[in-house]
Amino acid sequence: MRTQVAIVGAGPAGLLLSRLLHCAGIESVLLENRSRAEIESTIRAGVLEHGTVDLMNSIGAGERLEREGFVHNGIYLRFDGRDRHIDFPDLTGGKAIRVYAQHEVIKDLVALRLASSSDIRFEVKDVTLQDLDTSSPKLRFRDGEQEFRIKCDFIAGCDGTHGVCRTSIPSARRATYDRTYPFGWFGILCRAPPSSHELIYALHERGFALVSTRSSSIQRMYFQCDPVDQVSNWSDDRIWAEFRSRLATIDGWAPKEGPIFDKVIVGMRSVVTEPMQYGRLFLAGDAAHVVPPTGAKGLNLAAADVRVLARALQAFYASGSSELLDRYSSTALRRVWKAQRFSWWMTSMLHRFPGTDSFQHRVQLAELDYVTSSRAAATALAENYVGLPFEV
Ligand code: FAD
Ligand code: DHB
Repeated sequence: MRTQVAIVGAGPAGLLLSRLLHCAGIESVLLENRSRAEIESTIRAGVLEHGTVDLMNSIGAGERLEREGFVHNGIYLRFDGRDRHIDFPDLTGGKAIRVYAQHEVIKDLVALRLASSSDIRFEVKDVTLQDLDTSSPKLRFRDGEQEFRIKCDFIAGCDGTHGVCRTSIPSARRATYDRTYPFGWFGILCRAPPSSHELIYALHERGFALVSTRSSSIQRMYFQCDPVDQVSNWSDDRIWAEFRSRLATIDGWAPKEGPIFDKVIVGMRSVVTEPMQYGRLFLAGDAAHVVPPTGAKGLNLAAADVRVLARALQAFYASGSSELLDRYSSTALRRVWKAQRFSWWMTSMLHRFPGTDSFQHRVQLAELDYVTSSRAAATALAENYVGLPFEV
């Protein structure tokens, strides 16, 4: 087989890249090791930056998102039993975010890929990469009983944290910067109407809690937990007691409760691999970096990477110039590190760190007070949350 760009991984990064390339008339083959049903039902992120929404619209993938996604004009920061509102449009010149689940984004992009009769293969096995430092990289994989070999011009490594692409770069040619946090998030989905029309990020002495949403009848909520805790230790009653306690306000606010149908514990890490390129292999999304979920940057960063990569590939095929491709890693990393800083800062401000004392808690409260009472500080939060402008 021969193609222009071989893409490994049909998460947001791989699917968005394949669609951007298709719109630019560039051929690709997209390989995914899980089934279509599995990728379309895995529950993950839910917040889309305004630039991610624009990107989806620009590639003809925004129709359902525009119809079903919820526009959120701000967030609440809840501390000391009170809410303070961060008003995004007021602070950012009219920008907002959209709540639309990641697996709905995946469904929309898979449907487009299939409708365009482009090559996408699910449940492939044993993907290996070869000749990355030549102008003709190759990829081998198994599809059912058959073995395949793809010759291509470029490989896009969009295969997430546990993929094969990052580790195909010789270890001497990549550096890793990472941090593991001493807590995780316990996430639930429940059948109940939204408790709030906008997201609530809460700091409480017992730890962080987050009220998000998915639809008029399904809520997404999280609380900080021990990263090695087990979902089975948490009955529904115990979960609701924890939420009620962490989200309590002086005027008696309580979450809307309903049957819980999904429980998960997510670990929290910050990781960056540099550079995001080796020869003809380009890494994008979680394959190159992971952020802790506070601030919802993971999916949005994947989208920003592939936007830069698609433009560079388009320039290469239009003019033969590899200038933008050569700059891909440094361009993408500028945004990656700003998103890492923001996610680390939100995480540090809103979580209880084990072993810290009430001094630390009071400093966190002072920071929240500052962020919600200084227009300059609130603007810094808002412009990062809705998404910084794209690099050129
Ligand atoms: P992925 O979505 O991981 O996609 C990679 C794809 O590659 C997968 O479909 C995988 O099956 C496939 N793949 C892997 N290895 C191979 C291989 N060898 N061959 C072929 N295919 C392969 N972010 C937020 O902003 N907010 C959240 O609330 C949030 N919650 C999360 C919860 C969980 C449990 C996890 C794991 C992540 C969460 N994230 C969250 C992060 C966000 O979902 C990711 O940043 C986003 O999915 C990154 O997209 P991606 O395409 O780079 O990687
Ligand atoms: C959601 C996830 C996040 O990480 C976040 O900061 C806000 C919302 C969500 O899944 O809805």
